[in-house]
Amino acid sequence: MSSPFDMQKFRTLIYNETGMLFDEKKDYYLTSRIEQRMKEARIPTVAEYYQTLMLGNTRDEFQKFVEAITINETYMFRDFPQLQGFAEKIFPAHVESKLKKKDKTMRVWSAACSTGEEAYTLAIILKEMLTGHGDWQINVIATDIDTKVLDIAKKGVYGARSMKDTPLAYRQKYFIAEDKDSFSAGPLLRNIIKFHQLNFMDKEEMRKMRNFDFIFCRNVLIYFDDNSRKKVVEQLYESLVPNGHLFLGHSESIGRITDFFETQTIQSFMSYRKPLR
Ligand SMILES: C[S@@+](CC[C@H](N)C(=O)[O-])C[C@H]1O[C@@H](n2cnc3c(N)ncnc32)[C@H](O)[C@@H]1O
Repeated sequence: MSSPFDMQKFRTLIYNETGMLFDEKKDYYLTSRIEQRMKEARIPTVAEYYQTLMLGNTRDEFQKFVEAITINETYMFRDFPQLQGFAEKIFPAHVESKLKKKDKTMRVWSAACSTGEEAYTLAIILKEMLTGHGDWQINVIATDIDTKVLDIAKKGVYGARSMKDTPLAYRQKYFIAEDKDSFSAGPLLRNIIKFHQLNFMDKEEMRKMRNFDFIFCRNVLIYFDDNSRKKVVEQLYESLVPNGHLFLGHSESIGRITDFFETQTIQSFMSYRKPLR
């Protein structure tokens, strides 16, 4: 389709706008997505398509392009041991320290939530952990760059694949079975989750994300390079309350790019704590 020069221009544009790094090895993937968008937008040449993406008044097409290239794989209770470690080893101590300050708010951010399964999972864990401990104000904020996945997240209806790791008791308590292969999140969860679009590279919007007790930013920084990872992670640090924790995906480590956090190993996972100043 396009010459190597064309592809470099696309790679640079994506990197600057989203932080995602597509190296040459992923050209086949990028090429197929560009072709798909060109067809749907009825744009005949790659050069014209690139120009369309570059024009400030065609953000719509840029958004569709981003949605075509993002990887949105997710499911409920993904990385179960990490969630268990969070619930059993980290959460109780955090609750205790908040109670000492008479603070009964709990704010959790599912950063890069894709179709929402992580947000619903966190809402279930918070509900389970805080029930019987008085009236807590629980908020789960869930964001993604991709508005298409956010529409699915807001609908909150999931198939068997998404639900496969959900313990049966939680499935029965928190979801309404629409049919054999379709489960709709119930009001207990919906009332505490808010979804909205957010690009990690948007500094102004990132600055508005404050006072989170826990941030889950899992399986997204693998698509970034160290430079854009560092930018995101340092913003996430600012978004946490002192003593708040950041959780990353299994294969993601930020030890070599920032020393802001105190690290702790739980199960086989690392948790990153913002120290008390
Ligand atoms: C593989 S999913 C991760 C979903 C979930 N956190 C999990 O671990 O199952 C990665 C998500 O990161 C989002 N993403 C990629 N770049 C982003 C950016 N610059 N800002 C916000 N979200 C981004 C994608 O749209 C995608 O939905």
